[in-house]
Amino acid sequence: MDITQLILDDHHEQRRLFAILEQIDRSDTEALSAVWGRLAAFLEVHAAAEEAIFYPELLNVGIAARRRAGVEGETLDAIHDHNEIRDAVSEVARRTVGSDEWYAAVAGANLANGDHMAEEEREGLTDFRRLAGLQQRHNLAVAFVAFEARNVTGVQPVDKDPAANVSQAEAGTWSASDGSLRIGDLRSS
Ligand SMILES: [Fe+2]
Ligand SMILES: [Fe+2]
Repeated sequence: MDITQLILDDHHEQRRLFAILEQIDRSDTEALSAVWGRLAAFLEVHAAAEEAIFYPELLNVGIAARRRAGVEGETLDAIHDHNEIRDAVSEVARRTVGSDEWYAAVAGANLANGDHMAEEEREGLTDFRRLAGLQQRHNLAVAFVAFEARNVTGVQPVDKDPAANVSQAEAGTWSASDGSLRIGDLRSS
């Protein structure tokens, strides 16, 4: 296995679920709710798994390869994007399923997630393949799939402070589930 492939596979599944939502009749609110509920939980678990397992190791291998600035920037961007995705997902829950406002909120989540996935695939995943060997990518894939399996029904969405998470990772004390407060997005756009 390879963690970069598992992440790509998850991204494909997220794109598939957004596309499925577009094909359900808007009057079938039970089906819309069920599919959105699955997608929302999946988006949150996927981001949490990346924060717990992928990004700390991207930082480690990047720093070892004297690429500190590059991998720090990618990690800060990713956590900032994950916060935006978590916020967009929670917006959907505030709307009436099947309403125009609900569809607009789903489109907002699709946009935030689509932009993020493209960047993550182009930067973090590409760098990790270059910097990490196959055995490490396999070991992390096992940890990643186990994290997602343990949390298959979802995780509590908690916005993270990007800079604090990077500092904790570099100090070896990163805890993706610590619920660290959103102190401020240093690189918010
Ligand atoms: Fe991500
Ligand atoms: Fe991802």
